[in-house]
Amino acid sequence: MQPIFYVGGPKTGSCSFAEAFRKLGLPVIKDYSVADEIRKFALDSRQHPQAVGGIADFGLPVPVRQLVEVYPEAKFVAFRRSMDSWIESYQTHVLWARKTGDSTNALPGLSDSELERRYQELSADLDWLQQNHQERALILSLEDVAWEPLCEFLGVEVPESEFPHSHRSDSKLWQCLGYEFTTDWVSWKTNSWRKFFGHLAGKPGLQMLEIGSYEGRSAVWFLENILTDEGAKLTCVDQWKFGVCRDAEILFDKNVAVSGFSTKVRKVKSNSRRALGWFPDNSFDAIYIDGNHSGYAVLTDALLCMHLVKPGGLLVFDDYRWPEQSYAYYTPGPALDAFLSLCDWRVEVIHKDYQLVLRRRDQDIPARDVSY
Ligand SMILES: C[S@@+](CC[C@H](N)C(=O)[O-])C[C@H]1O[C@@H](n2cnc3c(N)ncnc32)[C@H](O)[C@@H]1O
Repeated sequence: MQPIFYVGGPKTGSCSFAEAFRKLGLPVIKDYSVADEIRKFALDSRQHPQAVGGIADFGLPVPVRQLVEVYPEAKFVAFRRSMDSWIESYQTHVLWARKTGDSTNALPGLSDSELERRYQELSADLDWLQQNHQERALILSLEDVAWEPLCEFLGVEVPESEFPHSHRSDSKLWQCLGYEFTTDWVSWKTNSWRKFFGHLAGKPGLQMLEIGSYEGRSAVWFLENILTDEGAKLTCVDQWKFGVCRDAEILFDKNVAVSGFSTKVRKVKSNSRRALGWFPDNSFDAIYIDGNHSGYAVLTDALLCMHLVKPGGLLVFDDYRWPEQSYAYYTPGPALDAFLSLCDWRVEVIHKDYQLVLRRRDQDIPARDVSY
């Protein structure tokens, strides 16, 4: 296989590119700390044994034209974003690196006008690449990044798992803002969430329920992006008992406070099986289910939530396909399939991938009367 160079530059999705390669089982070099070596390798060392697979992150400037010349057999991938969002993301990254003292991931501090110049320079090179070497280049806007175009370009099969959209800048920004998380189960899902929940953003009096809030990372995202109406409320049910992080509840309280949206949050510390019985039917416009992942518990949550979500409301289950090959008892997938086969007259499937999104029908399809 020939080398595939990522030439979109930093803060354009190079992490996603590298993670996608890892998920595809292809070798990839991706490391800011060895940017110089990568550049040297890319330009000088055609015989390098690692010259297969993906190579991301050159820093700036990206030597697009030199690479095209030196590697006539190579292919090129770039994701593009608007100049404004790119500059914001770049500067956030610089700010974060300065605050945390993380020099391995540092990018050079540059003024906005210098970044503008470099952005335009790279854009011109990418236009040139597309016009003159179309068959060797895949250039996508960041919103269109997905498995299908990338896999078609690489000539490999599309995997079943969701595309790893890794927006590191968002995570780092959150840290800068004072949030404290030990785990990130959120950043790579937010693109999907925008699609699933986006139409609810700003809805007056929106009522949302989350089962499994942990350190509050997903809750804070919902608060900042979806529950934006003043009267919106997020009910967070979690037993905060076992978990990867012992201090998850303390961090949840802290992070909700940092968000400035404490008054919108109703915290319910309980096992979901008990708590879900306390809410009236048809209480919520949307429910995000990310609690106990054993099949038995997920099925119980699903059945109870069926009554709690309003007609037309959403049920979003995390980790539908997690982990792919495992005993049914421990995984949500088979339980949710059973739920669907029992409840398709009450819900329609909106999206079925790593997350399962169901919409409660406005009216139940009359079920066959089977009572005796
Ligand atoms: C994967 S974490 C949730 C992550 C969070 N939604 C996020 O994205 O940041 C799962 C959470 O579910 C909670 N949990 C597990 N079983 C539960 C149950 N039966 N009832 C309520 N919460 C439960 C755990 O305490 C843990 O905090």
